[in-house]
Amino acid sequence: MPECARATEETPAERPPPMPERVARRRRYVMCRPEHFDVTYAINPWMNTGKPVDTPLAVAQWERLRTVLRESGHHVTLIDPVPGLPDMVYAANGALVIDGKVLGARFRHAERAAEGDAYLRWFRRQGFLAAESRNINEGEGDFLLTGTYVLGAHGFRSETGSLQEVQEYFGRPVIGLELVDPDYYHLDTALAVLDHDEVMYYPEAFSPGSREVLRRLFPGAIEADAADAQVFGLNAVSDGHRVFLPEAAAGLAARLRTRGFEPVGVDLSELLKGGGSVKCCTLEVRTER
Ligand code: ARG
Repeated sequence: MPECARATEETPAERPPPMPERVARRRRYVMCRPEHFDVTYAINPWMNTGKPVDTPLAVAQWERLRTVLRESGHHVTLIDPVPGLPDMVYAANGALVIDGKVLGARFRHAERAAEGDAYLRWFRRQGFLAAESRNINEGEGDFLLTGTYVLGAHGFRSETGSLQEVQEYFGRPVIGLELVDPDYYHLDTALAVLDHDEVMYYPEAFSPGSREVLRRLFPGAIEADAADAQVFGLNAVSDGHRVFLPEAAAGLAARLRTRGFEPVGVDLSELLKGGGSVKCCTLEVRTER
């Protein structure tokens, strides 16, 4: 073999990039047992009031998620479910908590309005500084924190005014993103933060401009395909090392592994009937600055 050919083979550019070392950070989550979970109204395309819900199965699947999070070293606190609020299990919508400050939710639909108050009172009882949102704001359903930004979505639920309100309240830059596909009506159904400024998302869920913004901010992001998005694979929770996601999202799990993450599949099929999965069921409580 000629000298130059061997030299080319050995250039560092041809070696696969080194696998980043992933470090988990212990998290604190609030969850709400789905004792009163049911589909009694339809406010997103996944909800079908004609389809029976197995509430005990929903509870068992949810318990499994709680166990997996606890066994991974995370702290899970429970808020009491309220009868008549079947969607209260989707704790992510209850508030946005950053730097120990709480901004309570204000829901778009009357059916969920009372949840905002239930979560706000709960946080106040725990001693948190908690403010009520002036705009429609569905908490971590539409606002996700990266290392540098708060990503905030509008289009279906949270109002554009809530983006400015979140920026002012937390003093963190908010990047506004527009959702365009009703199946992905909350930001956390289309995008997940994996670590610091690393994300995975489903591009088709966003307007062309927002897609471009995501490509500029996160050029190395995992872009999910329709199959993984449809099983709510983006509705995931990451601790920086483990990524808890619906077990049906096999493609995403494989891609996460190639980036050094450890995917942990969870079956929340009953809760999918309400239009939610892993992330929807967990509200992160960030007490440190
Ligand atoms: N049925 C609920 C709704 O439509 C589901 C909420 C899911 N939560 C979430 N964080 N995406 O409002």
